[in-house]
Amino acid sequence: MRKIIDGEEYEIPQHVAIIMDGNGRWAKKRLMPRNFGHKEGAKVVEQICEDAHELGIKYLTVYAFSTENWKRSVEEVTGIMNLLRRYLVDCIERASKNDMRVRVIGDRTALDTDIVEKINELEEKTKQYTGLNFTIALNYGGRDEIRRATVKLVRDVKEGKLSEDEIDENIISSYLDTADMPDPDLMIRTSGEQRLSNYLIWQLAYAEYYYTDVLWPDFTIEDLKAAIRYYNGRERRFGGVK
Ligand code: FPP
Repeated sequence: MRKIIDGEEYEIPQHVAIIMDGNGRWAKKRLMPRNFGHKEGAKVVEQICEDAHELGIKYLTVYAFSTENWKRSVEEVTGIMNLLRRYLVDCIERASKNDMRVRVIGDRTALDTDIVEKINELEEKTKQYTGLNFTIALNYGGRDEIRRATVKLVRDVKEGKLSEDEIDENIISSYLDTADMPDPDLMIRTSGEQRLSNYLIWQLAYAEYYYTDVLWPDFTIEDLKAAIRYYNGRERRFGGVK
């Protein structure tokens, strides 16, 4: 889809994936606890969903909690989980306002049961919306996702539901948490770090990567527009020659 942004026409990426980094540093700069940064970060998530929808982005996927984030202090992990509890409930109402379908990817087995129930309710109550597809990666790790997909795939082969020579890249994609979503076109990471940190490692194979020094709680629609401008300056060849 093409759209005019601030007087110029741009190709809008269909799927944008974001690593929301820098909440801790943002809070530290203000002499506040790290969880204050996450709380502000969560507010920015709400705003960016609205902005993404307005810009015509169809899929937005954010990294809220990785399989490695359990290594953080109990206080911080509890803080993030409590924030998510509230967020998942509030999100039901906001989704109807933004015409937003919300999904969660990642391993749910390690999450508290009340969180899993909230996720199920949110997914069920928003599945009729067709505007923005918003996905939250929660207890998500790219390698863990591939491991879980492999377990399912092997089981299906053993049970005769799938034969070995049917296994191509599309079949593997269909076993991932992101099965019915297009791969991201653009990956944004805030706070100056230039790593993938186990995020959507299969799906981001051909994406453009945009890094900004802005800390996540300071991220605005202007930064999102800058990422889209950057994306438009790149020529995507998917390994071919143009
Ligand atoms: C990275 O910053 C951020 C996280 C690990 C958590 C992200 C969580 C939120 C934005 C809030 C909850 C999410 C939703 C969807 C409501 P960091 O703590 O690594 O920051 P640092 O690198 O400055 O320490």
